[in-house]
Amino acid sequence: MMLSISARMTLIALLILPVSLVLVMVVVHFSQRFFKAQQATLGVVNGQVEEVYSGHNVIKAFNREQAVLDDLNAANDQLYASAWKSQFLSGLMMPIMNFVGNLGYVAVAIVGSIFAAGGIITIGDIQAFIQYVKNFTQPIQQLSQVSNMLQSMAAAAERVFEFLAEEEEDQTADPARRADPATIDGQVTFDHVKFGYTPDKTVIRDFSCTVQPGQKVAIVGPTGAGKTTMVKLLMRFYDVDGGSITLNGHNVRDFDRSALREGFGMVLQDTWLFQGTIMENIRYGRLDATDEEVIAAAKAAGADHFIRTLPGGYQMELNEDASNVSQGQKQLLTIARAILADNRILVLDEATSSVDTRTEQRIQAAMDHLMQGRTSFIIAHRLSTIRNADLILVMRDGDIVEQGNHDQLMEAGGFYADLYNSQFEDVTA
Ligand SMILES: Nc1ncnc2c1ncn2[C@@H]1O[C@H](COP(=O)(O)OP(=O)(O)OP(=O)(O)O)[C@@H](O)[C@H]1O
Ligand SMILES: [Mg+2]
Repeated sequence: MMLSISARMTLIALLILPVSLVLVMVVVHFSQRFFKAQQATLGVVNGQVEEVYSGHNVIKAFNREQAVLDDLNAANDQLYASAWKSQFLSGLMMPIMNFVGNLGYVAVAIVGSIFAAGGIITIGDIQAFIQYVKNFTQPIQQLSQVSNMLQSMAAAAERVFEFLAEEEEDQTADPARRADPATIDGQVTFDHVKFGYTPDKTVIRDFSCTVQPGQKVAIVGPTGAGKTTMVKLLMRFYDVDGGSITLNGHNVRDFDRSALREGFGMVLQDTWLFQGTIMENIRYGRLDATDEEVIAAAKAAGADHFIRTLPGGYQMELNEDASNVSQGQKQLLTIARAILADNRILVLDEATSSVDTRTEQRIQAAMDHLMQGRTSFIIAHRLSTIRNADLILVMRDGDIVEQGNHDQLMEAGGFYADLYNSQFEDVTA
């Protein structure tokens, strides 16, 4: 339509496009930097809030309220600095577009009136043109209006895509060599296992041992020796750097990850319970378990008694971080969960470190009964609890320094005997 009225005036109206485009690009160029900074500092502020909220007891105990507030204020100031700049720049977009649109009107009006005076077009044509230019600039203005949102979205999306672009660990094994999870019978072999979390620091140097089905294996050693690391390698949370771990002759890499973990029951050093009833938390080990089975597992874990004394018993709701039961009680619940899951191999990493010695002994007795014919790995610092293990692996700085049963190791009079005796002395002192 515009062309049929006057080609030259159309050209003038179209000039609005490149001018707005250049201006938008300039503004985006400057503001994008601040949008990115805004998202990054927003992440920092959120992280701080979460950390402080979950650790508020410790912060109060160490009188660090003011220091924490100062940190938060500093991060918040940074957020403010980047946020106002990005908002200001993107807020400029609308007036700039209005200005360019109005320039278009003025150009059309001036050129139009010159043409009209020269008799090239009529006054009505100018009126029509002004209407067209308005229709024409409106969508551009609307676009610039949402560009604010688009930009902060782009900055946020960038962070999400960065996360999504991380390489995913393969969940299934090579079909040609895939091992049947039913073959997991409790036989475990570590063959010259070498591993480090980072390439420059080796945590496990050379770990070899063979565990027969049904054996109770204890891993002991000083803090930081690599006990938990061994367990993580067994469950394939990490892959070994050298050597191999085999289950009944099959490399752990030849199992689908889910199948491998199906073979293991695990109680970790840090307990994990979720918001929900105690019944639901224990049933997490095996979702189709009946109430009776859940209660039987709780009894075996020595948890039944304390659960019954709680208000609501098995139906008591645990809160989000399960702070309405004690640390030892949490451990008992996670043990009950592992007992209920009833897997071929059970791993207990300091599972009873927070319960009193008598309860610990009762749990051990129940465990010994339950674990007959099953392989169990028990990591414990209180050596009295693992005296009856079939095999004790003594670790030190990522190596097995001694192995054997309690009597053999005591007789050898080495590192284990030292550890054991030092605990004994502590008790009598
Ligand atoms: N995720 C990780 N990233 C880097 N290094 C780690 C990581 N986890 C553990 N380490 C390091 O590996 C070493 C062994 O840690 P590991 O947790 O296996 O010790 P542990 O024997 O279980 O000790 P504890 O008795 O305290 O539980 C430690 O020196 C530790 O600093
Ligand atoms: Mg550990």
